[in-house]
Amino acid sequence: MWLRAVLLPILRVYYTGLRVILQQVYGRRAFSLPVIPSQNGKVAIVTGGAKGIGYSTAKHLSSLGMHVIIAGNNEAEGSEAVTRIQQDTHNEKVEFLYCDLASMKSIRQFVQIFKAKNLCLHVLVNNAGVMLVPERKTADGFEEHFGLNYLGHFLLTNLLLKTTKESGTENLNARIITVSSATHYVGELNFDDLNSSCCYSPHGAYAQSKLALVMFTYYLQRQLSEDGCYVTANVVDPGVVNTDLYRNVCWPGRLVKWMAARLFFKTAEEGAATSIYASVAPELEGIGGCYLYNGQKTKSADISYNEDLQRKLWNESCKMVGIPGSA
Ligand SMILES: NC(=O)c1ccc[n+]([C@@H]2O[C@H](COP(=O)([O-])OP(=O)(O)OC[C@H]3O[C@@H](n4cnc5c(N)ncnc54)[C@H](OP(=O)(O)O)[C@@H]3O)[C@@H](O)[C@H]2O)c1
Ligand SMILES: *[C@@H]1O[C@H](CO)[C@@H](O)[C@H](O)[C@H]1NC(C)=O
Ligand SMILES: *[C@@H]1O[C@H](CO)[C@@H](O)[C@H](O)[C@H]1NC(C)=O
Repeated sequence: MWLRAVLLPILRVYYTGLRVILQQVYGRRAFSLPVIPSQNGKVAIVTGGAKGIGYSTAKHLSSLGMHVIIAGNNEAEGSEAVTRIQQDTHNEKVEFLYCDLASMKSIRQFVQIFKAKNLCLHVLVNNAGVMLVPERKTADGFEEHFGLNYLGHFLLTNLLLKTTKESGTENLNARIITVSSATHYVGELNFDDLNSSCCYSPHGAYAQSKLALVMFTYYLQRQLSEDGCYVTANVVDPGVVNTDLYRNVCWPGRLVKWMAARLFFKTAEEGAATSIYASVAPELEGIGGCYLYNGQKTKSADISYNEDLQRKLWNESCKMVGIPGSA
């Protein structure tokens, strides 16, 4: 039982990480963004945009002229990021808005404040996340990986969906970008125990949250297409990137990361390239439902395409966050 619930996810997650690192060493480490036209007049929200991949994403979108709102749970870090981006990009339209994705109340307050600004929303980047945290619960009692990485973004996206739909047009679809991870390939959805309360495995819980984000994106895209909305949803895999995400890895793992990161990991800028590409590349206009890695459509885990499971997850998620059932 313990073997299957705890040890197996560890082996699977490390195996996946190693495979991606080897790919980065021997294959294509990153891809370079094509030239992207000015995005002046458009509005983006980037969750977790105060550091890491999110910061690089927010900064790049800002350099393209977008009005960027960083949604994060650390005021000091957030305002520092805003100042740095404003200085570097000479774009004043950057702001920080508090949003703790581990609290449904905070997410609702964030959406209320955002909506009071009467802005459009052309790009939503669901980027924030935690990895391998010790067994903890969100404010609403969900296991933290599932509650924050997945459910938090599920609720945020749904609450912003009306604004997103109103902002997209036939020639310029609004875009929802969700950051998943290669660990989703080894993730399992455990519907009987989504909170991982039996035999907590941080590795299993992280992978489950990232698999849920892929399935969420596919289901959302189908709903959007069926409803004829001018909104697309794509999910991205940034690769293995040198950020603070690894701070909860056990110490031998951190030692290895410390030694290997500069050589073999992507920089945050390289890691952000696919998020930026999905957010604004003209090539992806009107295209949704893709899992993107290094700017390429890539196959995600077989199970992620299972429409029954996607629907079941969506239904359960609606119940868990207390919203009505259809996108
Ligand atoms: N780095 C990689 O190798 C890698 C690989 C695959 C996927 N990813 C994914 O990429 C995304 C970005 O990660 P990263 O590598 O850039 O790590 P990071 O530097 O740790 O950034 C994560 C961001 O999420 C924010 N965040 C954490 N808890 C939050 C909460 N409760 N409410 C709001 N924001 C919160 C963090 O803010 P605070 O720290 O200030 O709380 C931070 O800004 C994550 O979804 C991650 O799973 C990363
Ligand atoms: C997870 O925990 C939340 C909050 O305690 C609860 O409402 C929900 O039913 C739990 N879900 C599962 C599948 O255990
Ligand atoms: C999901 O909910 C819808 C409507 O609420 C229902 O028709 C459908 O059978 C449910 N699907 C699953 C897999 O639970």
